[in-house]
Amino acid sequence: MINTVGVIGLGTMGAGIVEVFAKAGLSVIAVDGSAELAERGKGFLEKSLGRAVSKGKLDEAARDEIVGRVSFGDDLAAMKDADLVIEAVPERLEIKESIFTTLDGIVREDCVLATNTSSLSITEIARATKVPSRVIGMHFFNPAPVQPLVEVIRSVMSDETLVEQVRELAERLGKKPVVVGDRAGFVANALLVSYLARSIRAYESGLASRSDIDAAMAAGVGLPMGPLTLCDLVGLDVIHEVCGVLYNATGDPSVASPSILRQLVTAGRLGRKSGHGFYTYD
Ligand code: CAA
Repeated sequence: MINTVGVIGLGTMGAGIVEVFAKAGLSVIAVDGSAELAERGKGFLEKSLGRAVSKGKLDEAARDEIVGRVSFGDDLAAMKDADLVIEAVPERLEIKESIFTTLDGIVREDCVLATNTSSLSITEIARATKVPSRVIGMHFFNPAPVQPLVEVIRSVMSDETLVEQVRELAERLGKKPVVVGDRAGFVANALLVSYLARSIRAYESGLASRSDIDAAMAAGVGLPMGPLTLCDLVGLDVIHEVCGVLYNATGDPSVASPSILRQLVTAGRLGRKSGHGFYTYD
């Protein structure tokens, strides 16, 4: 039974994942690379729960109980008590491999090691550990507290009981799990990111303005937001990295990172989280 989970990396996705676990009643060990980043992660959680309190959807006692289930820190050694650890650090294979290699020497033998990677190979990440059979993908969608989907990604080395255990955990969290194979972009991002890259190219080529491209897909096709707004929500750096992974895996030029996307990332315009992306935010 998974009761205590570790979350590594407390950015947009990691902080959202902490919220999901803590709201479901699990104890959470939340770790980032420094005391400041851990404090920032705590701030994200408090802000999100604060919004729910101000809307009257959560009372203050429930908020305090949820926050009380989470311990924040900057030391991976705290993961020794976890039943499952999930990492949500930036999409760079070498960072993820190094974290998993370190975790090998810290966690219990029966601890599940999960990655929230958007597109990197679970098999390659698993190879960085001594026990690849306990490594699995558990991919949440942004915003994690809202989007129901969790992709449970098995590698050829993943233990079958582990797949079932993580699928059940996702259900306990109130999510909709789907079990998928280890292919670049899995199911959702392989389809979504190719649509986003095409939308960015439509904007780049002058086909229509940003807001008209967004309106065409939101008002015309019934999506909750248009593609450029969605890119800003997910993070342009994330979209850029996933484009790179998909392009390397398929050679399909339509999924290569578009020039304007690369320029925005280089300029530090990463979308909502940095205040600028395709649009500007307060
Ligand atoms: N954290 C927590 N809760 C949030 C939130 C956040 N960041 N953003 C919104 N919410 C909550 C709001 O509090 C609100 O909750 P209540 O209904 O309880 O009041 C609810 O979500 C709806 O929010 P809003 O009323 O502010 O706005 P909205 O109705 O326009 O919904 C949205 C916002 C949920 C983001 C919606 O526009 C949406 O679903 N957009 C599409 C998002 C999407 O496609 N995500 C997948 C991205 S791909 C990905 O993540 C994969 C990857 O690896 C790259």
